[in-house]
Amino acid sequence: MAEVIWGLATSHVPSIGAAMDRGKTEDPNWKALFDGYRPAREWLAEHKPDVAIVIYNDHANGIDLDIVPTFGIGTADRYDVADEGFGRRPVPDVIGDPELSLHLLESLVDEGFDLTVFQELDVDHGFTVPLSVWTPDPGDSWPCPVVPLLVNVIQYPQPTAARCYALGQALGRAIASYGKDVKVGILGTGGMSHQLAGARAGFINAEFDRMFMEAIESDPAKLAALSREELIREAGSEGIEMIMWLIMRGAMNERVRKVHSHYFVPASNTAAGLALFDNRP
Ligand code: DHB
Ligand code: FE
Repeated sequence: MAEVIWGLATSHVPSIGAAMDRGKTEDPNWKALFDGYRPAREWLAEHKPDVAIVIYNDHANGIDLDIVPTFGIGTADRYDVADEGFGRRPVPDVIGDPELSLHLLESLVDEGFDLTVFQELDVDHGFTVPLSVWTPDPGDSWPCPVVPLLVNVIQYPQPTAARCYALGQALGRAIASYGKDVKVGILGTGGMSHQLAGARAGFINAEFDRMFMEAIESDPAKLAALSREELIREAGSEGIEMIMWLIMRGAMNERVRKVHSHYFVPASNTAAGLALFDNRP
């Protein structure tokens, strides 16, 4: 039986990756953000999973905007790093785990979550920045194979927070029913509050973010009850990315132990947040 050992919620702001790639993590603008990651990174380095699942959204880099699946899963044995217009990030391509992907796909479809299947997929900053937050110096390869689970958060109508939480709970059952005895790390990515365009461009709501950060640990059902409109009003049009944290949380135990959290404003236009939970209190 496979077991979830930890869940990592983290923002995926592209400039966090760019700051790492360009050696700027000690610059005054960035140092406090990266210093805040350190305790989580140290703990994660001592708790290496056999496989990870990254719950993320593509930003019209790996998938064209004319096809936007609500939920999807990668089933490939590798995923290339996307070129988002300024060259590929200098980080390793991603090794997949087709056997786990196919098990999750079958289990989730059987539970009523009809995922779109990606047999080929380039992964953008939504995927690679969280991997860099976890593993700043991957060398030639990331710490383990990774399965991408995709969510539409960029085009109306995004799935509800409740549907995401339910998907996470089904994902937890799917992992538990896997025949192989593997340890799994889950990354819930995106957020925190931000709005990149329109009249409210630059919008950040620290009070909402702090509530979300607290409740994702202790009361995820409260967050699952938020409507799409409430999420966009309180967190901004891109802040709705945080519904992906609920998929991660749903796959974990009812009670988890917070290892470390960190909140930093602003990273680019975004409130950057990180929360790491041990699933084995
Ligand atoms: C920014 C944040 C995002 O989540 C994203 O996908 C792209 C850009 C930003 O703040 O710059
Ligand atoms: Fe984003």
